[in-house]
Amino acid sequence: MGDGPKGAQAGRFPEGFLWGTSSAAYQVEGDNRNSDWWEFEQQPGRIANGDRSSIANDHYHRYREDFALLRDLNQKAHRLSIEWSRIEPSPGEFDARQVRHYRDVLGELREQGIEPMVTLHHFSSPIWFSRRGGWAAPDAAHGFLPFVHRVVDQLGDLVGMWCTVNEPSICAANGWITGEFPPGRKANIAAFYRVTSNMHKAHELAYGAIKRRWPDAPVGLSHHKLLMLPATERRRDRWAARTMQAALDRWPVAPGRLRRVVESTCDYIGLAHYWGQMCAFDPRRPQEQFIRRFNVPGRPITDMGFSADPSWIRPVLNEVRSLGKPVYITENGLASHDDEWRCRYITETLADVLRAMGDGVDVRGYFHWTNTDNFEWARGYGIHFGLIDVDRSTLERRIKPSGHLYGRIAAANSLPD
Ligand code: BGC
Repeated sequence: MGDGPKGAQAGRFPEGFLWGTSSAAYQVEGDNRNSDWWEFEQQPGRIANGDRSSIANDHYHRYREDFALLRDLNQKAHRLSIEWSRIEPSPGEFDARQVRHYRDVLGELREQGIEPMVTLHHFSSPIWFSRRGGWAAPDAAHGFLPFVHRVVDQLGDLVGMWCTVNEPSICAANGWITGEFPPGRKANIAAFYRVTSNMHKAHELAYGAIKRRWPDAPVGLSHHKLLMLPATERRRDRWAARTMQAALDRWPVAPGRLRRVVESTCDYIGLAHYWGQMCAFDPRRPQEQFIRRFNVPGRPITDMGFSADPSWIRPVLNEVRSLGKPVYITENGLASHDDEWRCRYITETLADVLRAMGDGVDVRGYFHWTNTDNFEWARGYGIHFGLIDVDRSTLERRIKPSGHLYGRIAAANSLPD
């Protein structure tokens, strides 16, 4: 990966800083009928407002147009996922036509001068895999491997960077604790730990498979890292925040015993950061480790219902500094219909990314979530994270002011005055 960009100065990013956007196949492609999400969506009450992903942004057919827009926004990189349920619709059966499709997609991205970061699993799994217990099944990691090998062999020459799995802690918590994601289970702590640990295993196996074939390609994963703040300076509240942060970061970025995992199977640390919460010690909550969590008073609440603050990215980045690895912000963005707020959020966040770099964190790139407004999982189409608006009836794309702003920042490699 080389030495990476060095020497961030006031307002300016170092030469070679990677500017990108981030997306996920299921949220934009449309018509992913072999996915567990497709089945889940058909159950009444699962998706807000009765939405269905259906055609999504029809990115499956319109990727050329979408990548041309990214080129117009001076993007150097784009994070996208390969839909496992398209490549392997039934166990051990691979669809050569879909492999060819993704060769076209990745090839087109490269033609536009944009480097692909490929995610192998972004929340969506084939129906056959979920029928076998999904990520909670004992042999889950091995079930994932044939797909990984196929992609590594047949698409690997087109991939710039690899992201094995997306946010294991969110996948596990939403699928087995809150029930917001398939398989829709609730309060199953044992399954939560099985899932994160199986995804961890899957990451390690995928890391090996990729490195054997493409030793120079950087491989990592994306970890969802939110910030936990103590409700007061009291010792018990500080304990609550520390305990909650450690539980959420249990893997892969926690310091200490898990350091080894990062050292041996991550060429970089991928962080997704969106929001923060406060934690207070509460003796009435034994079920929740005696911790009460709530939005940070006085901070704006996004359309997702969480408090957000651009300055939180700096402590989040500093937490992984001691691991001494290059860092990519694999996702960061704002759920809001207020695009002026998004503009401020982007510049203020990036100013704090620069401050973290000044603190010594080796940040190499930033991938904004997301390029186009899309299917926000169980929240449906009502939530807008995009730099580009998509008209739901015509699917026409229109770059928002925040998109133009982000494009100017990427071109100048610096923040506006
Ligand atoms: C996920 C995305 C999602 C975003 C906003 C991330 O946790 O990786 O798929 O759209 O958050 O909620």
